[in-house]
Amino acid sequence: MAMTKRLMIEGVSAEALARRFGTPLYAYSKAALLDRFGRLRKAFRARPTLICYALKANSNRAVCRLFARAGAGADIVSGGELERALAAGFPSGRIVFSGVGKTVQELELALRRGVLTLNVESPEELAALAAVARRLKRPAPVSIRLNPDIDPKTHPHITTGRAENKFGVERGEALRLFRRAAADRWLRVKGIQCHLGSQITDTRPYALAAKTVTGLISQLAKEGISVELADFGGGLGVAYQGDREHPVEKLAATLAAALRPWPRVRLLMEPGRYLVADAGLLLTRVLYRKSTSRRRFLIVDAAMNDLGRPALYGAWHPIVPARPRRGTPATVDVVGPICESGDFLGRARRLPPCEAGDVLAVLKAGAYGFSMSSQYNSRPRAAEVLVNGTKARLVRRRESLADLVSHEL
Ligand code: LLP
Repeated sequence: MAMTKRLMIEGVSAEALARRFGTPLYAYSKAALLDRFGRLRKAFRARPTLICYALKANSNRAVCRLFARAGAGADIVSGGELERALAAGFPSGRIVFSGVGKTVQELELALRRGVLTLNVESPEELAALAAVARRLKRPAPVSIRLNPDIDPKTHPHITTGRAENKFGVERGEALRLFRRAAADRWLRVKGIQCHLGSQITDTRPYALAAKTVTGLISQLAKEGISVELADFGGGLGVAYQGDREHPVEKLAATLAAALRPWPRVRLLMEPGRYLVADAGLLLTRVLYRKSTSRRRFLIVDAAMNDLGRPALYGAWHPIVPARPRRGTPATVDVVGPICESGDFLGRARRLPPCEAGDVLAVLKAGAYGFSMSSQYNSRPRAAEVLVNGTKARLVRRRESLADLVSHEL
């Protein structure tokens, strides 16, 4: 996203987008989305890798379709995401289904649609899957999600690969599940999966996970159980503030080296944030200014229901005016209209003078922004646009007041 005096999203100014589509508004750059995918694919080119985009980061169909056309697979965690992925054009043979709590209906849907693999996370889930497969007379492709008990040193809410987390199974249990799957005529062993957490900027945790995964692959090979897929999940971090982006070339080299003794095993990754975070921003308008004896506030029309990350994880997103005014910057809290003190987009920010009506942009909001939004306080969800050069296309209309009550009986 080019930063000139006026904030531009490709060839369109942020102010023009706000005027045309209203605020709050999510805007994504097509070029930035494709650029990220290209970079990741290039980094992993030494070894055939299936990059499965984690839809949860941003499941807008227009965004998904770009990745599907570019050759990505999809990582999904619900029947809803499965339908979205298929609607966006991901071939079912490139879809992997993760999650600790897949329902019987979801297992059935996944088998009927013919996904590449289901990442199974418990003995009871494996039994449920075998029962569904037997009933449908369709063998189920199974990967076991390993919990390698590694601390990726990220926010506790987005750490997933530690023994106290609900995800995956421990090594011994994984072995038992593989044996059980190999012995069941309705189950087909596909691979090993693990996912350590999110917003990880260091390659070391993956190197540790690779050790455990390859150890398990060797053990299974000794028992005559062969594995086709090694899936290291997502988690690749981006640079929000001071922190560095995940060195993806180094990651690719590390994983390729670990898998060298296994040339037939296909490497799989499930990145979400890395592909979409930087390509999106949230536009909002200043409603009011207000000062107390302690703080200065800019009250804007976007809130924690639109972008929950600051309130939920204390996340820091850059905030910039669409057209900076001249004058002395001030330190302000940028807050939304929701009735909670946790409703802020940024605290203690140095911003140029702002007035009611000015447009602000919350940057790096393409991941876990709209996809986590809600209607809390009965606020209709924002609109989304995709920018391509000088053209902007509405890819999700703003919800109306009627939409808010349309499901109530
Ligand atoms: N695969 C699995 C099994 C996952 O659980 C996740 C994310 C991903 C892949 C994609 O992770 P990514 O590459 O995006 O880090 N709402 C939080 C992030 C939650 C991530 C949950 N799992 C946030 O806004 O920071």
